[in-house]
Formats: sequence, structure tokens, C-alpha cells
Amino acid sequence: MFGPADWVSVVELTQQSRVADLITERERFPWAVKRVNLSAVEFAEWGVPYNYAEQLAGESTFLKKCGFEDGFGDVHWMTDAAHEVIQQAVFDSRMYGSVLIGGLGLGVITRRACMKQEVDRVKVVELDEDVIRLVGEPLMQAFPGKLQIDCADVHEWIPDRHYDCAWFDIWPDVHPRYLNEMADLYQAYSPSCNMVDFWMLTELGSLLEECRTSGDVELTLKTWDMVGMTFKQVWEGLDLCHERGKKLLHNFMAKGLRFEEQAHD
Ligand SMILES: C[S@@+](CC[C@H](N)C(=O)[O-])C[C@H]1O[C@@H](n2cnc3c(N)ncnc32)[C@H](O)[C@@H]1O
Repeated sequence: MFGPADWVSVVELTQQSRVADLITERERFPWAVKRVNLSAVEFAEWGVPYNYAEQLAGESTFLKKCGFEDGFGDVHWMTDAAHEVIQQAVFDSRMYGSVLIGGLGLGVITRRACMKQEVDRVKVVELDEDVIRLVGEPLMQAFPGKLQIDCADVHEWIPDRHYDCAWFDIWPDVHPRYLNEMADLYQAYSPSCNMVDFWMLTELGSLLEECRTSGDVELTLKTWDMVGMTFKQVWEGLDLCHERGKKLLHNFMAKGLRFEEQAHD
């Protein structure tokens, strides 16, 4: 279980990650930045002890994409509320030097990178020009000289230099179908980045289990390699991960070994 010290870290990190002072409520259809009030009861329902839930409650900022364009309904792409902040906590604690970020979103991790003294420069690659207008422009004004944003697809963008750390978060939800895409990115960016990390890494264990049992998505050998390597890489930095994440990692390690044995049969 998460202990009191972990919850204090989550509250602190969430408070430091708020973007409302920089990113105003605006729309550029189909994208919109919105403020939403989340109550302590909601956080408590998600399993947060009530005294910490009270500290996490309040106004959060959301980036949503209205659904008329693709017919799927409105999609909340990002928020600066605790549950998203936790997902980026391990990378947040490890980033240094030159940082490459794939997917600007609400600029939560970008802003954290720009605020860190250990980080010298930040490059963001973002596909959508409207997201850059809504979120990227105020961030570039706040961190002139430190932050650069390129409007491009991370699958096509060619690294312009060597980076110490890279973080990719270009997905609206968690699904095993993204794993092979992550492996492609891992392969493409590893030669020019010391460390390559992905959003939802702590969820991968459960995704792998889902894939294995449902047979929905066929994982390539390259994907299993990528997952194994990235898991190993962050193993030391998991202090802020919830207990479930750690258990999944242990399970994955065991399964990964069994998988290797099968692959060699
Ligand atoms: C979930 S948000 C990122 C949230 C971000 N980590 C944060 O801290 O606010 C995903 C972003 O990736 C962008 N995106 C999606 N596909 C992309 C691609 N192929 N290349 C670059 N950006 C992409 C989306 O437009 C969106 O802004």
C-alpha cells in the first residue's frame, strides 16, 4: 500500500504541476482548455485517503478534443490532476540535461522540465498546431531560450541532436494496441537518446497480461524486447509508483523470463 510519505509526495508534486497560472481557458476547435472542479469525494472514491483527497481536490485544468470531428465524442487528453501527474512522476524525477518530449498536451511535463535546474534545454515535438497555440505559446513565453516546440509527427521527426532523456506521451487512452507503436519509437529514438521512457509504463504489466490472454493484439518480439529494456531501466526509480504498479512489474519480470524460454524453444 501507498504510505503517508508517498501521499505527501503526490500532493506536493500535484500542486507544483498545476498549469492554471499559465494556460488560460480557451478553445481552438476541436481543442479546448477547461477548468473542472474535482471533489475530495471523487479522489476518495479512487482510493485516496480522505485527508489527502481533501488536499488534492479543487480546480484542475483539462485539455479536451471535441468529438464532432472523428465521431467518438469528447476525449479528455490530459489533466493536471493527481492521477495523471502520478503517471509521469518517475520520468519527472529522473529528467536532466537535454530533454525531448513527444506530445505537448497540456504542457504538464514540459513545464516541469523547464522548471528543473538539472534540465538545460527542452524540445517538444507536437503534431497539432492548435495545441501549440493554446498551450505551447504561453509556455514558450514563460521559458524563452529554454523551450523549443516543433510542429511534427514524432514518427517522422528526425532528432536534431543527442538528448539525455526522451518521454513519449501521444496516446489518449491506455490500450495494448499502442505497444508495437511504442516499440517502433523506442527503436527509432534510442540511438540518439540516453534514456527513452513512455507514459503508462507502470500499466504495461496489465496490458501484457491482457494481450497474452485475449490474443487481441499480436506483440512482436521487438515489442517484448522494448518493454523488457524500459522496465529494467526504470526499476530503480519507482519510489513514487503505486503498489499495484510495482506488483505488475514483478509479474512482468517473471513472465518476461518465461517468454524468453518459450521464444528459444
Ligand atoms: C496525452 S497528451 C500529452 C500530455 C503531456 N504529457 C502533458 O504532460 O501534458 C498527447 C499529445 O500528443 C499529441 N500527439 C498525438 N499524436 C502525435 C504524434 N504522432 N506526434 C506528435 N504529437 C502527437 C496530441 O496532439 C496531444 O497534444
